[in-house]
Amino acid sequence: MTDDVVIGPLDLAAHVDEALAVQAIAFGLSEIEIGVRRQIVLRHLTCPGARALGATTSEGRLVGFVYGMPNDRAHWWSSVVEPYLRAQDIDFWLDDSFVITELHVHPRHQNQGLGRALITTITDAAAEPRSILSAIDTDSPARGLYRSLGYTDLARNVLFPSAPKPYAVMGAPLPLRRR
Ligand SMILES: CC(C)(COP(=O)(O)OP(=O)(O)OC[C@H]1O[C@@H](n2cnc3c(N)ncnc32)[C@H](O)[C@@H]1OP(=O)(O)O)[C@@H](O)C(=O)NCCC(=O)NCCS
Repeated sequence: MTDDVVIGPLDLAAHVDEALAVQAIAFGLSEIEIGVRRQIVLRHLTCPGARALGATTSEGRLVGFVYGMPNDRAHWWSSVVEPYLRAQDIDFWLDDSFVITELHVHPRHQNQGLGRALITTITDAAAEPRSILSAIDTDSPARGLYRSLGYTDLARNVLFPSAPKPYAVMGAPLPLRRR
C-alpha cells in the first residue's frame, strides 16, 4: 500500500459526491447513473449497521471507499438474489451476513493493496460470521480479489432488473482469508 494513503472511517453521506466520482471513473457511471446512485447511497446509509471506510491521501483526497451493512431480506438486493440461492437451498447466506454494497478504488491507486485493505478492515469489524456481495460475472480484478479473500460463487448469471450485465453472487466466511 502507498504510505501517503490512509484507510479510516468515512462519513459517506458528507462525501457522497467524492465517492461517486471515484466510482464513476473506476466502475463507469453516466451522469444520470450518478444521480440515481446518490439517492440509493443516501438511503442505504439510513439502514441499521451501515458503515463506510475511505482511502484518503495526505492531501485529503478520497481515492477509494467501501460500504456495506448487515443483510436484510426485505432489501431490494436481497430479494433479487434470494430465489437464486433458494433454488440451491443455500439462502441461509442471506441471514447473519454482512453485505459489501460497493467497493471502488481510483484507477491511479489500484493494485497497491487498497481494495484488499478496505474490504478486510470493514469486514473485520462485522459481528456477522459471513459476508456476501455481487460482482459483474466476468474475470475482473474484483472477482480475482474476492476469490483470494475466500469468497466463492454462490450463484452465477444473476440478473438485476435494469443492470445490463449478469452478476455473480459470492460469499465468504469471516474473518476474510489472509495471504
Ligand atoms: C476491485 C478493486 C476495488 C480492487 O482494488 P485494488 O486497490 O486495485 O485492489 P488491491 O490492490 O488491494 O488488490 C488487487 C488484487 O486484485 C486481484 N487482481 C488485480 N488485478 C487482477 C487481474 N487483472 N485479474 C485477476 N485478479 C486481479 C489480485 O487478487 C490482487 O491481489 P494481489 O494483492 O494478490 O495481487 C479495483 O480494481 C476497482 O475499483 N475496480 C473497478 C470497480 C469495481 O469493479 N469494483 C468492484 C465492484 S463489485
